[in-house]
Amino acid sequence: MGSHPKPQILFSREEIEAAVTTLATKINNDYRGKNPILIGVLKGAFVFMADLIRHLDFSPEVEFVRASSYGRGTESLGKVKIVHGLRSPIEGRDVLVIDDIVDTGRTQAYLLDYLRKKRPASLKLCSLTDKPSRRKVPITIDYLGLTVPNKFIVGYGIDWDEKFRNLPDICFVETED
Ligand code: IMP
Ligand code: MG
Repeated sequence: MGSHPKPQILFSREEIEAAVTTLATKINNDYRGKNPILIGVLKGAFVFMADLIRHLDFSPEVEFVRASSYGRGTESLGKVKIVHGLRSPIEGRDVLVIDDIVDTGRTQAYLLDYLRKKRPASLKLCSLTDKPSRRKVPITIDYLGLTVPNKFIVGYGIDWDEKFRNLPDICFVETED
């Protein structure tokens, strides 16, 4: 790729903050009296998860998994694998997966299947963003922040070719594919 794309703001940091607060309120209500494990999906969810847990009124256990799907480009390879698996047991536990974006849904379908086999008491998905226009596999998002149009987004932890994760707003870039 020759020239770098210039990100344009789609959701401002204030809109993101409002969405994160709303999600945290729902999660606080639903998990009151439980002792859930939050599993962040690396790398994209790390900023979202860091903000989200600071709005929770309980102290969650935090774990991370990493799945690879896109490689370094912007097109899904359609193949998913777990490159960093769970390090602690989740059998009998209430598990909430924290993700940055559901696009085709392939990553989440694979990941939720991987986690379901470990026999958690409950398994739910929280995603900051959803791009429903691109869905290939049906996915239930139990807690959704923001719905995005069919554009490639970056910022707030989400990358384009490992860049732009540090942007405080969610932006879109025009890509060439
Ligand atoms: P899926 O398996 O197609 O749902 O892809 C999910 C993963 O693809 C996300 O966790 C991201 O890493 C990446 N991805 C999908 N759409 C975007 C986007 O618009 N910007 C950046 N990464 C994306
Ligand atoms: Mg991701």
